[in-house]
Amino acid sequence: MNLQALIETAHAMVAAGKGLLAMDESNGTCNLRFAAVGIPETLEMRRDWRALLLTAPGLRECISGVILYDETIRQAGSDGTPFLQVARDAGLLVGIKVDTGARDLAGRPQEKVTEGLDGLRERLKDYAAMGARFAKWRSVIVMDGSHLPTVACTSANAHALARYAALCQEAGLVPIVESDVLMAGTHTLARCQDVTGAALRQVFEQLVRQGVVLEAMVLKPNMVIEGLDCMARSTAQEVAHATLQCLLRAVPAAVPGVLFLSGGQSGELASSRLNAMHQGQARPWSLSFSFARALQQPALAIWAGDSANRLAAQAALMHRARCNSAAMRGAYDDAMETL
Ligand code: G3H
Repeated sequence: MNLQALIETAHAMVAAGKGLLAMDESNGTCNLRFAAVGIPETLEMRRDWRALLLTAPGLRECISGVILYDETIRQAGSDGTPFLQVARDAGLLVGIKVDTGARDLAGRPQEKVTEGLDGLRERLKDYAAMGARFAKWRSVIVMDGSHLPTVACTSANAHALARYAALCQEAGLVPIVESDVLMAGTHTLARCQDVTGAALRQVFEQLVRQGVVLEAMVLKPNMVIEGLDCMARSTAQEVAHATLQCLLRAVPAAVPGVLFLSGGQSGELASSRLNAMHQGQARPWSLSFSFARALQQPALAIWAGDSANRLAAQAALMHRARCNSAAMRGAYDDAMETL
């Protein structure tokens, strides 16, 4: 492991005003997104969509890197140029999703544990040889009343994340450690803060136990938000306060960056909440974004699988990327949405 190179990559991923474009949906998830807007669920359509994203003019101004899925990292655009080359030419770092998905936890079918450790060392070696610089593994935590998540779930996921992260660093890849407490449910903001904090503390305990170098990783957590079915709705400032308080209590200062997932928030909400986090309290890590839906959704709806809409879709993607870049300076405003 070249530790200095890993640390430099981690810092490049969270460079000022830049975040990651997560475009690493598995084929199943990508097809679900396509089906929702009437796009044929084919390999060619997935290829054309990923090409559209990677070639958006000016992407590198707001995006430091892209997270790809296995299909995409091995794929070429319709002109034959490998996507790895397209990303490099666009000045983007390439990352790769390496977990194989969240499955039911044994004996607890309401809860999930993420799989993919078998054969991971060999797969990471291959991805690093291809030119990937970082990797991603997502754990999924379901909340329900006061009984979920169980410690069985959070500890199993924390352990897997730590083993994944250690293997990444061994292979010369920066691990994105993603802990996703889902928004589904009736839970309050305070309960989400408790659960998110407890999950993150377990993750860092395991990361340290497995010898992961905290300076050479980045964290990808959920924002602290009340459940989708909770009646009491928080302002962006309340979400920002609860999220920062949670992270300050759980995330060591040695970690270079925290990049949020969007989790199904609209693009506007995700930007305004990220913006609110940059308007107050100081924090020791860079605070950025690694959104999939909150960057892609408007563009996907505009594209709708029709090449005639390609430029308009790229403009929509760039709009969301610029909004989030502005949010990292505390300079995002609702008025940006009406320009
Ligand atoms: O693993 C999930 C993605 O990397 C982030 O997706 O922003 O739509 O939650 P999301």
